[in-house]
Amino acid sequence: MGARQLPRMKRLFYVSRFARPLTKRDIDAIRISAVRYNHERGITGILVCLGDMFFQALEGRSAIVDSLYNERILRDPRHNHVLCLNSLNNVTDRMFPDWDMRIFNLNEDAEVLPLAFRHTLSALLEANQIISQYTQPSIFRMIERGVNPTLVKPRRLRATVLFSDIVGFSYFAERLRPADLMELVNSHIEACTEQIDRHGGQVNKLLGDGILAYFPHQDADTAVSAAVDILDEMNRRRSRASRTSPQHFLHGGVGLANGMVYEGNIGSALKRDFTILGNTVNLASRLESLTRVLNVPLIASASVAHRAQSPWGFQSLGNHTLKGNVKGIEIFGLKSLHSLPVDELYRQITEHLRSK
Ligand SMILES: Cc1cc2nc3c(=O)[nH]c(=O)nc-3n(C[C@H](O)[C@H](O)[C@H](O)COP(=O)(O)O)c2cc1C
Repeated sequence: MGARQLPRMKRLFYVSRFARPLTKRDIDAIRISAVRYNHERGITGILVCLGDMFFQALEGRSAIVDSLYNERILRDPRHNHVLCLNSLNNVTDRMFPDWDMRIFNLNEDAEVLPLAFRHTLSALLEANQIISQYTQPSIFRMIERGVNPTLVKPRRLRATVLFSDIVGFSYFAERLRPADLMELVNSHIEACTEQIDRHGGQVNKLLGDGILAYFPHQDADTAVSAAVDILDEMNRRRSRASRTSPQHFLHGGVGLANGMVYEGNIGSALKRDFTILGNTVNLASRLESLTRVLNVPLIASASVAHRAQSPWGFQSLGNHTLKGNVKGIEIFGLKSLHSLPVDELYRQITEHLRSK
């Protein structure tokens, strides 16, 4: 028999900000439950309170640290903007072997308050807040959980890919004022990201006025549901828009395709992307472009229509030859959805610009 393997240890450091002002009593409550829980599970570490920030080190068996961090600490409403600074696997010894969770409240003793440390942590959290807005949510969640996205192995999975774009965007781009154009684009992106996130999809990329997302589920219903809700939301935004608002012209085209995709890191050391690739992605994009030609707001591939379990009312729009496909493929629309003819949309915008 070989030597008994030691359980895998992990050490994790993070910073976070108080979600509300916390009193000494609040901090004490955290300490009491932390010490009890950690002692029973062999977790050691420190928790430093600095201004309105926490800095914590946790160490112990990997699975136990993961479960404490992901299921308890990340979900704790007493703090937010949690930024995992480092997550080290296969650690062999402890830095804080004697402390179930020792708390240092540096706010209580102004003399020992290391100002520089406090400013550094605060700047780090602010930088992270800014960067998070430019990072796709799935990457941000990995970083939050202490997973290094650059090390995630590529995988092949079944997904429904969603492409959404603003109808007539190039026409608007040449005519609207920059601020109006941005308002229109932002409104489209807000409508899409909210619904995609609500339905458990991954917002993968913003492509100018368009958006690429995917739903890593076996069935296609969540993606169809998100697409229908995106179009409904645009409808609502149009009817709420004031007479002078460009949101009056917010009409979208959505393409949906279901199939196998490759998910992983692409790019170089200078620019990286965690994305999806494959024919299903190309197909969703081509179906989205076809919405303009056929004047329908949503087009789905046959595999979406066949995999969807709910009675969506898909109807065949016939066989179409798309770029890259020699043979035509059958595509589907939804009976209940209607589009404004593109020519009519152009007429409305011309009239709108004339009246300004
Ligand atoms: C900054 C911070 C650090 C925490 N550290 C620990 C910890 O080390 N161990 C722990 O069990 N709970 C810790 N907690 C509390 C957990 O997030 C969770 O709320 C608590 O364990 C729930 O315990 P209860 O079910 O006994 O109320 C911490 C909370 C905060 C806000």
